[in-house]
Amino acid sequence: MPPLKIALIGLGTVGSGVARLLIEQSERISRRAGRSIEIRRAVVRDLDKPRGVELPAGVLTTDIQSVIDDPEIDVAVQLIGGVDDARTVMHALLDAGKDIVTANKALLCEHGFELFGRARELGRTISFEAAVAGGVPIINAVSQSLAANQILSIEAILNGTSNFILTEMLTKRTAYDVVLREAQELGYAEADPAMDVDGTDAAQKLVILTELAFGTNVPLTAFPVQGIDTLDLVDLLTADELGYRVKLLAVVKLLDGQLEMHVQPTLVRADWPLAKVDGAFNMIAVEGDAVGRTWFSGAGAGQFPTASAVVADIIDTAVGRAALTFPQLDLFREQAALPVLPTEKISRRYYLRFTVEDRPHVFAEIADILGRNGVSLASIIQHETPEPDEAPAATDEATVSVVVMTHRTTLGKLQAVDAELDRLTTLHGPRVRMPVAD
Ligand SMILES: NC(=O)c1ccc[n+]([C@@H]2O[C@H](COP(=O)([O-])OP(=O)(O)OC[C@H]3O[C@@H](n4cnc5c(N)ncnc54)[C@H](OP(=O)(O)O)[C@@H]3O)[C@@H](O)[C@H]2O)c1
Repeated sequence: MPPLKIALIGLGTVGSGVARLLIEQSERISRRAGRSIEIRRAVVRDLDKPRGVELPAGVLTTDIQSVIDDPEIDVAVQLIGGVDDARTVMHALLDAGKDIVTANKALLCEHGFELFGRARELGRTISFEAAVAGGVPIINAVSQSLAANQILSIEAILNGTSNFILTEMLTKRTAYDVVLREAQELGYAEADPAMDVDGTDAAQKLVILTELAFGTNVPLTAFPVQGIDTLDLVDLLTADELGYRVKLLAVVKLLDGQLEMHVQPTLVRADWPLAKVDGAFNMIAVEGDAVGRTWFSGAGAGQFPTASAVVADIIDTAVGRAALTFPQLDLFREQAALPVLPTEKISRRYYLRFTVEDRPHVFAEIADILGRNGVSLASIIQHETPEPDEAPAATDEATVSVVVMTHRTTLGKLQAVDAELDRLTTLHGPRVRMPVAD
């Protein structure tokens, strides 16, 4: 077989990992691909940046057109981030007849429908194992290995940066801001970590998994997305005391023909596998009607874990597997979309924390409001405060934290509670609300 000629579009963290893997493990990869893989071009913006990989002379270029115009390049490995430029480049590469391998989840989340449609029209393929959970082969698992199942639910930790920060906050009993700075210094968080810590990155990956599992395109705006960036250490510690870990959980469930979806910091029972995933790792629990619950975990990002998934896609394309499987994927097609359960109807148990004035009858007012709105309480936790005669002179500002665990209730009811609580003058400081995983 003649070599498969590829172009790497982007030679940053992932791109240079892919180049190194292809070069350093060429014998193993050629054997598995059934032919050798030749990097014909690597497109970057800055030719002078160090890349940590030796490429033959003439391969590195800033000229994307040299890839588009080269009919011998079969596969374009699209490893630039962002959306707008990446989309333009992807269209040009598809139109030029290239099969695509990509790790860009933001692009697929936003423009997957149009790009996959175009690829189908042109008889080309798009492979994207690295776009969700880095080195964990979840795309292959959901789309192929579990193809006999109706997927019933996916519950996942999909953002390693957030999970690293949550783990460090709890184990070192340190506040969010301090841990974020440390994570940036260690390279676990980007200089601009916004999309990681505000839940967007996990939500983009959930949208792609939902496409694969349910054949439905759900926009990011159609479900609640909340990150870890407003979490207070005290809630992680209180959850720990109650036997839970707080995890940024991305969830999609099929319930009576509707999809329940959310990405939120969530209390997960400490003995549950998802609670035990620490540091920058990912875990995905997938439940199918035939297989039951399956668990996938590993490195969700990083140079070589991500390159592992990208190179597997290149091998699949070389062997011809991608050409067989891509047209069959239940993905980004025009088909009746499953409705998404409206946010106010999502029914779960909740952890609520209130900061209240430390005097009689205050909690009774909160309990009354919860009760009148049909929210029933499973437990109430208030740490002991000093006896009045032992305590420093009480001031108007003396407050105490009260934590309530509710029975299952809807967000709609809690929103009604919130509106009433807003009128109480005895409540101070932030009110915290986190769902509890079933
Ligand atoms: N890093 C991870 O662990 C990871 C994991 C999973 C998925 N991903 C996804 O993989 C993609 C790449 O991530 P990364 O971390 O490797 O990013 P990165 O380190 O920022 O690298 C991006 C590369 O793309 C090049 N580039 C950007 N815009 C370009 C343009 N318009 N024309 C030509 N080249 C351009 C850059 O060139 P210069 O080097 O010259 O600036 C750089 O080589 C992203 O979509 C990311 O979300 C990353």
